[in-house]
Amino acid sequence: MKIIVKANYESVSKEAFEIISNYIKNNPHACLGLATGSTPIGLYKRLIKAYERHEISFKYVTTYNLDEYVGIDRNHPQSYYYFMHNHLFNHIDINPENVHIPENDIKHIDDIAKAYNEQLKKTSIDLQILGIGSNGHIGFNEPGTSFDQETFIVTLDEQTKRDNARFFKSPALVPTHAITMGIKNIMDSKKIMLIAVGKRKAAIIKAVVEGKVTTEIPATILQKHPDVTLILDTSAASLINKAYLKNENK
Ligand code: GLP
Repeated sequence: MKIIVKANYESVSKEAFEIISNYIKNNPHACLGLATGSTPIGLYKRLIKAYERHEISFKYVTTYNLDEYVGIDRNHPQSYYYFMHNHLFNHIDINPENVHIPENDIKHIDDIAKAYNEQLKKTSIDLQILGIGSNGHIGFNEPGTSFDQETFIVTLDEQTKRDNARFFKSPALVPTHAITMGIKNIMDSKKIMLIAVGKRKAAIIKAVVEGKVTTEIPATILQKHPDVTLILDTSAASLINKAYLKNENK
């Protein structure tokens, strides 16, 4: 696990941006795994700016999103479909046919999960971007999820609902379920880049770096992946034992 520590959110976003934009420049047909949440917004802003400056093109890039709420419309401002279009896809030259976000029609949700999983098995994600929940979830793989899990419908953890309530008008409106890539799908990607900022993430990041690999903290499985980079600000990295920070560069 490579750990990069930066001074603040801006420099974390810049570092993540440089890794991704270089990857796209060298691999115009890259397949990216994308994440939502507040953390990657700064990264997406920089990708849009680079596209506007004609430094990168997404013309041949393919994307697969990690997850989507179930029980709200795709056009709801808190849906991940809406988020991704608002924060990235509407502002770049990506081919809409190359964009994949799990659909969330509750009537067909099991078939949708199966089909998304089949697509993922046929593809190979070159670079997966991850955030992390304060309970250690990646995508929406909540504590207790098997490491062999593939795309599925998850009942959201109480902690996740509390954390994400800030985006909804009232806690009662936070969806109870989501569709998510499973941990196995995430681990199948060639490279993984996890970004985390703020004191709120410090304890879980320490567990991910130093703790034992356990399904109780899903992100600890990343210790077993051959190519993972954590990009953290000083607050998120503040509890990590210094011995693990050999690669630190502020
Ligand atoms: C949601 C998403 C995760 C994301 C997490 C962290 O729960 N499903 O993929 O990592 O939020 O969000 P934030 O970056 O806002 O802390």
